[in-house]
Amino acid sequence: MQLVNYAAWIPSGKAPLVVATAPFPDLAPNELILKNHAVAINPVDWKIQASGGFGLSYPAILGEDVAGEVLEVGKDAEAFKKGDRVIAHALGLGSGPPYGGFQLYPRVKVATVARIPDDLEFKRAAVLPLSVSTAAAGLYLKGTLGLRYPQLGGGSSAIPRSTPPPPQPTTKKKKMNDVLLLWGGSSSVGSSVIQLAVASGYDVVTTASPANYAYCKTLGASLVLDYHNPDIIPILIALLKEHGSAVVGAYDAIGADATVRQCATVLHAFGGGTVASVVSAPDDLPKGVKVVRVGSTNIVSQEDGTVAKKIWGDYLPAALKDGAFKAAPEELVVGNALYFVQGGLDRQRSGVSARKVVVTL
Ligand SMILES: NC(=O)c1ccc[n+]([C@@H]2O[C@H](COP(=O)([O-])OP(=O)(O)OC[C@H]3O[C@@H](n4cnc5c(N)ncnc54)[C@H](OP(=O)(O)O)[C@@H]3O)[C@@H](O)[C@H]2O)c1
Repeated sequence: MQLVNYAAWIPSGKAPLVVATAPFPDLAPNELILKNHAVAINPVDWKIQASGGFGLSYPAILGEDVAGEVLEVGKDAEAFKKGDRVIAHALGLGSGPPYGGFQLYPRVKVATVARIPDDLEFKRAAVLPLSVSTAAAGLYLKGTLGLRYPQLGGGSSAIPRSTPPPPQPTTKKKKMNDVLLLWGGSSSVGSSVIQLAVASGYDVVTTASPANYAYCKTLGASLVLDYHNPDIIPILIALLKEHGSAVVGAYDAIGADATVRQCATVLHAFGGGTVASVVSAPDDLPKGVKVVRVGSTNIVSQEDGTVAKKIWGDYLPAALKDGAFKAAPEELVVGNALYFVQGGLDRQRSGVSARKVVVTL
């Protein structure tokens, strides 16, 4: 039976998405064709639509996060087989419509595909791909923070598998491991940063609304502070000094000028360092602090793709199977067909808190 492909196309800059047929994709040696079961929506999707920019050729197919079954396997993609349940970071923004996520049968490159456990639902797993790539790009590329890679059971702060003993009363603060400052721990990107950095052996000190403190801690954060507090910077600096921490860098998962400057001020108090920012890179930072922009696809295109191999190839599938890495934040399903993707973009744009907008297919 001939399969018919459909996509949620963006026909031209700033236009609403239109669901229409799409060519059934070809396959290169290192690629797979998936039968898509769930897609997640990212801020970049509505940002592209709203701006009409990003140098795209139209019509285009947006979408970076897919979860589904392997339908066809390229001749050099023998690590996968037909029927495997996988997630993939779809690379449509750089590679053209067959690689866009918002279609029934996307074409994906194996460098950013990982098998998922049988008990992990597609709609839950779809929250991960872009978030994982973006977290990994900021944490591990030598040109960004260049931190240690994660290991299974690795970090001394790794998420406990069993209930820990009740804390003993003490007046002394526990000395932390080397600390990563993370701005925005309850965001989608921040959720992967916490988990990866903790599995790499760092303590993560992060910011979120009080309603999401418990969420960030469940993922492994050591300390969570409210970013609405006007005194957050001196409080953060004092707490880190009290813990005797060495701060290895900052990951700004929000990436506004203001949040980059907040991270930079904290780093400055500890002698300087690098802020990895997901969006902005203002240049008027305190002496000794530099900012680098995070690019999710750099894990494939830079440093021989080593970061993609370490995270997508090795760590992620094993950690999902082991339960050490959680698919977080929880999915917020807004519909069950490509026709709901435009509503998903609108819903993401209106703002989410520790949730990821998902459309099932
Ligand atoms: N460069 C890249 O390759 C790349 C890739 C992916 C994403 N991005 C960018 O990264 C940003 C985050 O994307 P996302 O999908 O992770 O976002 P998201 O999940 O939609 O972000 C929502 C979260 O942001 C938190 N937040 C908002 N303002 C904050 C602030 N001032 N300080 C701390 N937390 C704050 C909120 O926390 P509370 O609800 O707890 O208040 C909320 O949980 C977006 O701008 C996106 O475009 C860049």
